[in-house]
Amino acid sequence: MINSLAYMGFESPTADEWRHFGSAVLGGQLVDRSDGVALRFDDHAERLVVHPGERNRVAYFGWDCDGADGLAAVIAQVRSAGLEVVDEPATAAVRHVDALASFVDPFGFRHELTTGLAVVGSFTPGREMDGGFVTGGGGLGHYVIIVPDLDAAMSFYIDTLGFRVSDHIEAGMSLRFLHCNPRHHTVALSAAPGLVGFHHLMLEVEEFTDVGRGLDIVNAEGRTLAMSLGRHTNDLMTSFYVRTPSGFEIEYGTGGLLIDDANWEVETLDAMSFWGHRPPEERLVPGIIGKASQPA
Ligand SMILES: [Fe+2]
Repeated sequence: MINSLAYMGFESPTADEWRHFGSAVLGGQLVDRSDGVALRFDDHAERLVVHPGERNRVAYFGWDCDGADGLAAVIAQVRSAGLEVVDEPATAAVRHVDALASFVDPFGFRHELTTGLAVVGSFTPGREMDGGFVTGGGGLGHYVIIVPDLDAAMSFYIDTLGFRVSDHIEAGMSLRFLHCNPRHHTVALSAAPGLVGFHHLMLEVEEFTDVGRGLDIVNAEGRTLAMSLGRHTNDLMTSFYVRTPSGFEIEYGTGGLLIDDANWEVETLDAMSFWGHRPPEERLVPGIIGKASQPA
C-alpha cells in the first residue's frame, strides 16, 4: 500500500528562480545540485525538485510504499490495471530511495513507487521560521490536479492505488478529496473535459506565524496571490495560494485536519472556504494545463 507522497518533481524553463523562491519565500532548505533546484522540508532528502525543461510540467509524483512487500503489492495492483511498471534501480539512487518502480497513469502523469526515502540530517529552513513543516507520516503535502474524467480518475486512485474518499465539494465546480494517511487529503481531483493539468501543491507548516511570515514576503516581493488568506471548509487549512515561477500554485498553510478512518463519514460540502481565499481581480491564466492528448 501507499503510505504518503514522498516527493514531487517538476520541469520548468525558470527552474533557477526556485533557488530564491523555494528557500527565501517558502522556507525550504536548498540542496546543491548541478541541474535545477532541489528542496528539503524535513530531515529527509529532497522532497521537491525543479528540473530545467522546455515547458512547465509535472515530471513525477514520488510515493512512499509500505516496505518491500507494500511496494510489490502496489506494483501488482498497477499491473493488474493494465499499466506497464518499470523497475528503475538507477533512478532510485538519484531520488535517495531504496527501491523505485515507475509507471505512467491513464492521464499521462509519471508516478514513482518507492520505499525508504533517505534521512540525511537535521533540517535548516531557508528563512526565519518558528517551527518546521508538517510532513512525517502525512508526507510532503497534497496536490490538486485537473483530469478529463472524474470517474476514471477516482477509480484509478481508489481501486488501483488504494486511496480512500475524504469528502466532496460541489461549489460551481466538482472536487473529490482522497487520503492515503491521516492527512485529510493527499490528492484532490477536479474535472475539465479534454484537459489535464496541475493546479497546486500544498505545503503545511506547524506555526501560524510562519504562514504570516510567508505572506509578508510574498507581498514584499510583489508576487501574485492566486488566492488570499482563507480557511477551507473540509480540511480546515488556513492558507494562501501563491503563483510559483513555474505557473502552478503553492498552497501554504497550517492547521490541517487529520482523518481517523475508524469514525470518518464522507460528506458533500457546498463551499470551498469559511472565509477568504479570494482570487485576484484579474483572474490568473491557468499555468500548467494542457490537452488530454498532450498531458501537462
Ligand atoms: Fe489545497
